[in-house]
Amino acid sequence: MDGKVLVIGGTGLVGNALLRAWTAQGAQVSAATYHCHASGGFLQLDMQDAGRVKALLASHRLGVVAVPAANPYVDYCELHPEETRRVNVDGTLNVARACRELGARMIFYSSDYVFDGVKGHYTEEDAPCPINEYGRQKAETERGVLDCDPRNLVIRTAGAYGWQWEPKNFVLQVKKNLSEGKPMRVADGVRYNPTYVENLAEITTALVAAGAGGIFHVVGAEEIARDEFARRAAGAFGLDASLIRTVPAAEFKAPAARPKQSSLITEKLRRAVPKAPPVGVAEGLRSMLAMEPHWRAYARTLPDPAAKVAPK
Ligand SMILES: NC(=O)c1ccc[n+]([C@@H]2O[C@H](COP(=O)([O-])OP(=O)(O)OC[C@H]3O[C@@H](n4cnc5c(N)ncnc54)[C@H](OP(=O)(O)O)[C@@H]3O)[C@@H](O)[C@H]2O)c1
Repeated sequence: MDGKVLVIGGTGLVGNALLRAWTAQGAQVSAATYHCHASGGFLQLDMQDAGRVKALLASHRLGVVAVPAANPYVDYCELHPEETRRVNVDGTLNVARACRELGARMIFYSSDYVFDGVKGHYTEEDAPCPINEYGRQKAETERGVLDCDPRNLVIRTAGAYGWQWEPKNFVLQVKKNLSEGKPMRVADGVRYNPTYVENLAEITTALVAAGAGGIFHVVGAEEIARDEFARRAAGAFGLDASLIRTVPAAEFKAPAARPKQSSLITEKLRRAVPKAPPVGVAEGLRSMLAMEPHWRAYARTLPDPAAKVAPK
C-alpha cells in the first residue's frame, strides 16, 4: 500500500469493516465520522465542508481515501432530496476534488439502486437507470468521482450485512425481531445479492492493492429473494423462520420506489482479484456467526452510540 489510508464513515457498517480489514493488514489507517464520538479515536469530519475536507486530507499525507460515508436511507433521500444531495453528491465530490489536488486515490461506494431492477443481472457496462432519488444521487456521484480522476474506484454493492456498531442491517433486524418472538414482514418478489460486509472489505482491499480503477460490482455470490434470505438468516441463528411473513411489496407504501430484480454480475471483479472471490449466503452467514465473539470483544472498544454529538 502506497501511503496512509483514511476511511471517511468509519463508524458505519461498511466503513468499520474497512477500518478493521486494513488495520489487520498492517496498513496505516485512520477513520473519520460525522458525529463527534467521545473516545474511540475517530476524527470528526463533515464532508459538506470543502475547506475542512481539504485541510484534513492535506494534514494526513494520504495514498488512499475510502468514502463509505453517506446518508444511505432511501426513503429519507426521497423525502429530503436537497438535504441528502448536499451530503451524498456534493460532500463526496468535495472529497474527490481534494484527492485529485493531493494525488490520493479515492474509493466511492455506490449501489445496485443505480438500476431500475427490471432486467436484473446488471453488468458494469449497463447504463444506470435509477428509479428513486437515492439511486439518482449515486449515479451522478459515480460520474463525478470518475470525471475527477479515472483512477478512482467506484464499488457498487448491495444488501450489506454483518456485525455493526448500530445494529441496523437486515440480518441484525431479522435476528432482533425473531429473538423477541416478533413476526417480521418481508416484501415479495425482491431479488438481489446480499453481501457479507467482511467479504466486501476484503475484496475492496484486494482491488486497491491490485491498483484497480473504474466501476466494479462487489456483491455476494448468490442472487436470492429477500424473504428467502430472511429465512436463511433465521435458520443460521437458530431462530423461528415461521415468523417471517412474505407480503406484497405494495403493502409497504414506502415513499421511494425500489428496484425488484437488482442482481449484479461480478465477473469483472473475479477476473481482477481471483484470490478474493465473493462468498454466497451460506458462507457469509456461517462466517458472521463464527465472528460473533471477536465482534463482541471489539465492540467493547468502541464508544457508546449514545455518545454521538452533532458536529459544531
Ligand atoms: N449497507 C448497504 O446495504 C448498502 C448497499 C448499497 C450501497 N451502500 C452504500 O455503501 C456506503 C456505506 O453504507 P453503510 O451501510 O456502511 O452506511 P452507514 O452504516 O449508515 O454509515 C454511514 C457513515 O457515514 C458517516 N457520515 C454521514 N454523513 C456524513 C458527513 N456529512 N460527513 C462525513 N461522514 C458522514 C456516518 O457517520 P456517523 O456515524 O458519525 O453519523 C457513518 O459513519 C453508503 O454510501 C451506502 O449508500 C450500502
